Amino acid sequence: MTPKQPLLQLEKITKNYGAIEALKGISFTIGKGEVVALLGDNGAGKSTLVKIIAGGLAATSGRMLFEGREFAAATPAEAKAAGIETVYQDLSLCTNVDVVANFFMGREIVKRYFGIPVLQERAMEAAVAKAMADAGTRIPSLRTKVEHLSGGQRQAIELNRFVHWGGRLVLLDEPFAALGVEQTRRGLEMIKRVAAQGIGVVVITHIMPQAFQVADRIVVIRQGIVAGDVETSKTSPDEVVRMITGESFAGAGPAGTQTGLEA
Ligand SMILES: Nc1ncnc2c1ncn2[C@@H]1O[C@H](COP(=O)(O)OP(=O)(O)O)[C@@H](O)[C@H]1O
Ligand SMILES: [Mg+2]
Repeated sequence: MTPKQPLLQLEKITKNYGAIEALKGISFTIGKGEVVALLGDNGAGKSTLVKIIAGGLAATSGRMLFEGREFAAATPAEAKAAGIETVYQDLSLCTNVDVVANFFMGREIVKRYFGIPVLQERAMEAAVAKAMADAGTRIPSLRTKVEHLSGGQRQAIELNRFVHWGGRLVLLDEPFAALGVEQTRRGLEMIKRVAAQGIGVVVITHIMPQAFQVADRIVVIRQGIVAGDVETSKTSPDEVVRMITGESFAGAGPAGTQTGLEA
């Protein structure tokens, strides 16, 4: 595999919540077009880190370089403007309007006729249709209200919208928690297609096979430190579990057994 150009570099990020040191100096790099699976036990600090990257939380110390320049978003809107966004299943869509309206929410195409603004519905629908087709997403009608769509379809809409508006780095925190097997498979495929366009993807998951299916690299956080940063092709579920738990290599069971995490 050719090394990827750095997209986001994290350098010694720390975060204290009062006396709790949630992050104790996190350093790793997300490459352009790279899918990084972020793994770790409950309370390891994954969500805290993702929030810091996406502007939802300020780091206590450390710095980030985004496309080579120092970067710190004070708000999620600021991160979004820079092309960094967390995609939460469902949460950012308006369910009572259709797919096109959601895609163009706040960025509608408007033309003025004799001073009167008119929404360019056909142009917007065509743009959404193209974005969906490019991503291989099939939705029966783009005029369907989002409330009638499945969780997987909603996720696809959000990801397509992110790509369409120039997204550079997408953060996904347990994106498949509420999805079925087939929807999850499509979601994983979609993540790969998004990354193939040069976008960076960080996906938090506790489901080991998903991490191995989708990620180029696995980063393990344990008690606020990076306990492992490995190419997926050069590790095994067993080794990753040991990184997560901190169990030493000696005395661990035979490969592929007793992890409790392999579905
Ligand atoms: N708002 C908060 N206030 C105080 N402590 C917090 C807060 N959010 C998270 N923590 C603590 O920080 C640590 C990391 O939490 P979190 O980032 O949610 O871990 P993860 O997502 O890996 O489960 C935990 O010890 C958690 O209890
Ligand atoms: Mg979490």
